[in-house]
Amino acid sequence: MTTILVTGGAGFIGSNFVLEVLKNHPQYKIINLDLLTYAGNLHNLSSIEGHPQHIFVKGDIIDQKLVGQLFREHQINGVVHFAAESHVDRSIKDPAAFLRTNVMGTFSLLQEALLYWKETNQLDKNRFLHVSTDEVYGSLGPTGYFTESTAYAPNSPYSASKASSDHMVRSYHHTFGMQTLITNCSNNYGPFQFPEKLIPLILNNILHKKPLPVYGDGKNIRDWLYVVDHCQAILEVFQKGEPGGHYNIGGHNEWANIDIVHLLCDQMDSKLGRPLGSSRNLITYVKDRPGHDRRYAIDASYIKQELNWTPKESFETGISKTIDWYLENQKWLEQVTSGAYQDYYTALYQNR
Ligand code: NAD
Ligand code: DAU
Repeated sequence: MTTILVTGGAGFIGSNFVLEVLKNHPQYKIINLDLLTYAGNLHNLSSIEGHPQHIFVKGDIIDQKLVGQLFREHQINGVVHFAAESHVDRSIKDPAAFLRTNVMGTFSLLQEALLYWKETNQLDKNRFLHVSTDEVYGSLGPTGYFTESTAYAPNSPYSASKASSDHMVRSYHHTFGMQTLITNCSNNYGPFQFPEKLIPLILNNILHKKPLPVYGDGKNIRDWLYVVDHCQAILEVFQKGEPGGHYNIGGHNEWANIDIVHLLCDQMDSKLGRPLGSSRNLITYVKDRPGHDRRYAIDASYIKQELNWTPKESFETGISKTIDWYLENQKWLEQVTSGAYQDYYTALYQNR
């Protein structure tokens, strides 16, 4: 049995990862450390409540004392690190929170892993996987792809904080010999994504017949991947990746934002029995995101070649499943969008 520390395992991707591991990979026990910020939700984990191979700990990754205790108490021999502030718009309003969690939080985990694994002579065996983003590479023009050798050029406080943490992870491999891995993935979609991100926000607003905010001209391009495919890729890299390496993960699935919004409108009209075109009438072009990256697109040939990973879910089936999930989980949507999030959302649009 390998005991892994999963950070941010109550968030969108982290909770999907925990569910996938407990379902299909019984060789792992998970210590799930999450601060339960606005983005973390224990409802995401309700289906595994009481699971003998899952221990949830509410706490902050920046708390080195707590992290050190967890390593010793549970004899942790692997880390999969998701915990982060993850929303670009928030990083424009409050960059400090991103430096704190994404940079200093990652440092705290690296340092405590280093101390414990050195102490127990496991530094050459145990693995530390850092989950990162394609946004560290900056923005693409109309052609070309991000490869593992694309130079880092982060443009938002969010992506700059992720790039900084990637560099810290890299340095712990180079300097101390830690067996680190970095994954840089494109935009995820699927169940449990907080409705501040494009797809769940649009679905939630369609449900409530609220305006659908499209930034700028709506022609920015993102490369979408179903979250479970991302989680399976992370596991492949964790188990078989080359220490010190980094791996791009993506689905070769580029969409302009406005086309995604149209697709969601039409599918929701059909699933909700509303006249076709009625949701499109809710589309509202709003002021652009400052510094808005124009296009992201991942070249995922390295992970395919090295680890034989390709996505299993087609976009057609993935998006249909995702819409069904949000329709069946409206209570979840209500729970996560109440209280503090309402204030934030209102303030964001007042300031535009
Ligand atoms: P999320 O915002 O849904 O979840 C983040 C989780 O981290 C939450 O559960 C939150 O409570 C927890 N957290 C935040 N600060 C913490 C702290 N100080 N200590 C402990 N826990 C804390 O994020 P997500 O979309 O699931 O992203 C997870 C990771 O994947 C992030 O590192 C992000 O940069 C990366 N990523 C996300 C995407 C995407 O499309 N969402 C794509 C590529 C990479
Ligand atoms: O590329 C990976 C990244 O994808 C992750 O690292 C981030 O954690 C994740 O949030 C995501 O970042 P984006 O900024 O691309 O995602 P977001 O859903 O916020 O926006 C997607 C696109 O849609 C982007 O071009 C901005 C636009 N948008 C977004 C929102 C929330 C709108 O037009 N309207 C909106 O209301």
